[in-house]
Amino acid sequence: MTAVTAGTAGSAGTAGGAGTIGAADAAAVEAAAHEAVFDAAVAADERIEPRDWMPEAYRASLVRQIAQHAHSEIIGMQPEANWITRAPSLRRKAILMAKVQDEAGHGLYLYSAAETLGTSRDELLDKLHSGRQKYSSIFNYPTLTWADVGAIGWLVDGAAITNQVPLCRCSYGPYARAMVRVCKEESFHQRQGYEALLALSNGTEAQHAMAQDAVNRWWWPSLMMFGPPDDESTHTAQAMAWKIKRHSNDELRQRFVDIAAPQADALGLTLPDPDLRWNEERGHYDFGPIDWTEFWDVLKGNGPCNDQRLSKRRQAHEDGAWVREAAAAHAEKHTGGNNGKAQA
Ligand SMILES: [Fe+2]
Ligand SMILES: [Fe+2]
Repeated sequence: MTAVTAGTAGSAGTAGGAGTIGAADAAAVEAAAHEAVFDAAVAADERIEPRDWMPEAYRASLVRQIAQHAHSEIIGMQPEANWITRAPSLRRKAILMAKVQDEAGHGLYLYSAAETLGTSRDELLDKLHSGRQKYSSIFNYPTLTWADVGAIGWLVDGAAITNQVPLCRCSYGPYARAMVRVCKEESFHQRQGYEALLALSNGTEAQHAMAQDAVNRWWWPSLMMFGPPDDESTHTAQAMAWKIKRHSNDELRQRFVDIAAPQADALGLTLPDPDLRWNEERGHYDFGPIDWTEFWDVLKGNGPCNDQRLSKRRQAHEDGAWVREAAAAHAEKHTGGNNGKAQA
């Protein structure tokens, strides 16, 4: 926040000569007043809206987080879309298509929320395509069998809900409001995954084994979705002070384990962690160490599907160029040039 104040004062002091210091001082005083109003609003749990003054670092942090979230939604369509043509029944196919389409919608809400911060969707997509912005590493793992669709719904969408429900109370209004609808849809995604896995678990021996194998592969990457441990997380403390985040990575991870462990029992499946057990004293499940080397490695681009996901995304963007051009021409025809004259 001090950087903002200094920057504002500096830019006011470019003219030189008498009166410059006064102008710089005035700008600094104004910035401090803005900051005090912002801090008070955050402290009072009020929402910050797009036209409100906000520290540049708060704006940049939100753009980074919302963009990463939006990118995750649209990249996340790929692993499951992989199974649309091979879904085992018409019912499963219809559900999966609806789910994948929901994820595209989530991307749209989130890109729109990011745009209220003064960035553009083109700019954000460009950063995704050039690797300058990230998406969740979970989507760099392959979907090898139909059971993976169930495991993703149950565990990946389940972890996403755990992460996103507190974001409905995020201090930035447009992000918080987008999250309300997203969470409702994620809840449907989680249930469809659980139900698909339950059907497999109660099916033939081979189907049960397929469900167990999928859970074995998706469990640990799902725990990594909450991000690095609190003492290694660079953004957590500031994001919590600004009330963008309400809980730390480790708190949310524990909450997720506490929800998923009894659900695995109900599914008749096990979680691949020999250290997982209820701790009466803590009132939580204990769980084993996470392989953070794998997490950082996948984040760096070395996961099984990083290259495939990004190249497919770039290709989809290129293939969609004509749609964007047509939409822009249509908008121009109806709102620009014609001064709003009705079309015949
Ligand atoms: Fe989503
Ligand atoms: Fe989802």
